[in-house]
Amino acid sequence: MNRFLITFILILSFATIIQAQELRSPNGQLVMNFSLQPQGVPAYQLSYKGKPVIKLSSLGLELKNDSKSLLNDFVITNAQTSAHDSTWEPVWGEVNKIRNHYNELAITLTQKETDRQMIIRFRLFDDGLGFRYEFPIQPKLVYFVIKEERTQFAMAGDHTAFWIAGDYDTQEYDYTTSRLSEIRKLSKDAITPNASQTPFSPTGVQTALMMKTDDGLYINLHEAALINYSCMHLNLDDTNMVFQSWLTPDATGDKGNLQAPTQSPWRTIMVSDDARTILASKMAYNLNEACKIEDTSWIKPMKYMGVWWEMITGKSSWSYTNDLPAVQLGITDYTTVKPNGTHGATTANVKRYIDFASQHGFDGLLVEGWNIGWEDWFGNEKDYVFDFVTPYPDFILAEIRDYARQKGVKMVMHHETSGSTRNYERHLDQAFRFMKDNGYDAVKTGYVGPILPKGYYHYDQWTVNHYQYVLEKAAEYKIMINAHEAVRPTGIARTYPNLIGNESARGTEFQAFGGSKPNHVTILPFTRLIGGPMDYTPGVFEMDISKLNPTNNSHCNSTLANQLALYVTLYSPLQMAADLPENYNRFLDAFQFIKDVAVDWDESTYLEAEPGQYITVARKAKRKGEWYVGNVNGETPRTATVSFGFLERGKTYIATIYADAADSHYKTNPQAYTIRKVVVTNTSKLSQRSAPGGGFAISIVEADKSQVKGLKKL
Ligand code: NOJ
Ligand code: CA
Repeated sequence: MNRFLITFILILSFATIIQAQELRSPNGQLVMNFSLQPQGVPAYQLSYKGKPVIKLSSLGLELKNDSKSLLNDFVITNAQTSAHDSTWEPVWGEVNKIRNHYNELAITLTQKETDRQMIIRFRLFDDGLGFRYEFPIQPKLVYFVIKEERTQFAMAGDHTAFWIAGDYDTQEYDYTTSRLSEIRKLSKDAITPNASQTPFSPTGVQTALMMKTDDGLYINLHEAALINYSCMHLNLDDTNMVFQSWLTPDATGDKGNLQAPTQSPWRTIMVSDDARTILASKMAYNLNEACKIEDTSWIKPMKYMGVWWEMITGKSSWSYTNDLPAVQLGITDYTTVKPNGTHGATTANVKRYIDFASQHGFDGLLVEGWNIGWEDWFGNEKDYVFDFVTPYPDFILAEIRDYARQKGVKMVMHHETSGSTRNYERHLDQAFRFMKDNGYDAVKTGYVGPILPKGYYHYDQWTVNHYQYVLEKAAEYKIMINAHEAVRPTGIARTYPNLIGNESARGTEFQAFGGSKPNHVTILPFTRLIGGPMDYTPGVFEMDISKLNPTNNSHCNSTLANQLALYVTLYSPLQMAADLPENYNRFLDAFQFIKDVAVDWDESTYLEAEPGQYITVARKAKRKGEWYVGNVNGETPRTATVSFGFLERGKTYIATIYADAADSHYKTNPQAYTIRKVVVTNTSKLSQRSAPGGGFAISIVEADKSQVKGLKKL
């Protein structure tokens, strides 16, 4: 070949690199195209099995106080492809091994006028795309402030979406199911009366956002590895069905204060024509860094009870007194004030729960309202409410500590911060040391109310950094964290598996605050759980809340069998049995399932799934032969089909099926259930009806001939 020809071929291939880059998923079904549009605007599009998922969408960031934003005027100065295939073992999880398999394309862009560089890194998995912005170390981009991230997600149609309104402070909403074009109209009504905040835009929604297209594609938009950045919402241009990123501002209105070298979180687009693939996806974890905690032996999944539901329902109180002993002024002597007579965390009551938890084999007991400050906090916005170490006079810590130890129950700490992040950071070391001194290994944190300092939000960069600081500090103390009202998880538990729980969505507590939609639990696994487990706190057996507190006429919109199923369908290494011992005592045969069910798994197989309608999943307990199946059902009664093909061939098992009774209904007859035992093998099939807001739970244990005698084969 002559020299000219070689040069010509080189120029030609360089030109193709420059104009457009294609990236395929390992199985070839997903195709991502990166291109530079006129004026040097970076853009991408994504297809699945030839169908458009994301139409041409531009990428970039608008900067504050900068002569030029990172939006246009780019040329491609490098494009690198690579492939990755590895397997890692999570400390806890739905499965014991996770495959991380993707093809990567890293595009280096140089802005001609400023000579600044930005890399956009794409990772294409078989179940979706992740991409992020990287800002390498460079002289012309050191400190910069984000005015807005301008990442687009152009939808290919007016899809059905399962959404909650955009909000900088809370995700504790019921989901609305509607067309994208209906979000504007419905978003006003979607806000529950309890919500303290209002949406930032009539078409703003939160992630993880779940969608379904008319031709049966399931699409999920979220983010992974939200570290030192603000939480992303999506704002819809509902004329063109284009979502654009909308970051949470801080107190000054800034959306991110960055210093290179750094990067954004990953923006994730999961897609499949099978809803079960979305539920089984491990993409969010795979896009996070490997575990940074060397010794993880102290991180243990657990089942716990709590002196909690009685306060949530209003049966008892967190506070000791109705007076105001002004903790922030240094008045900590509660023995001088009049008790209100309804305090829940008394030594005697806590011991009663310890007895019950111990008798039924629970690992832990959470006690809320044990520490001074609660009466100062309610209705006040003070910075100095809690010190996290001073118990109320009727909570005799040493006595409770010793009693719990003797009964084999681990006490779970509670730190309600009242949203005062600064106060919590001031006390953090002392609070964690106090925990270790008294045998507590896990803490439930909480951030109720507006964030203090004033003007900051639950989801801004500053507050995101607070949660991360607490998590990393906790790891130093070997403490597990279950954060309520914190930013929704984005797979960070891979890197810091001491994050064993998060609330960050509408949990069971709302069943005592007016009730949740009966199909809520069929949506959560497609949305909130994409980034990590939820401390949903299931296990309510008394649905009529007025039975606990006559002044509370809320109703738990779920059947009892549905409550059992949640231990399997809502994966979490931390599961609570939320109800009171006296309510469990009334239904001990059903309670047996909560006692038996595992909290850590070797395998998970999603059998059936449709967002908003039903989920059926089978899981194999970690290092055990037992399996558990859960089915949750939405409003419409339905018969599920369970094929037991997941069981080991040639083995015989006993399945105990906890199901809705024929006349069961989440509203009118929630406590009607049946329990039956049958023999199953891996060729068995079950047709099982679930009531409106119902479901079923199955425990499956291996059995020998003598045990199956007299039992029917399924
Ligand atoms: C809200 C939390 O979600 C709930 O679980 C807790 O009991 C209260 N805050 C009080 O901290
Ligand atoms: Ca909450």
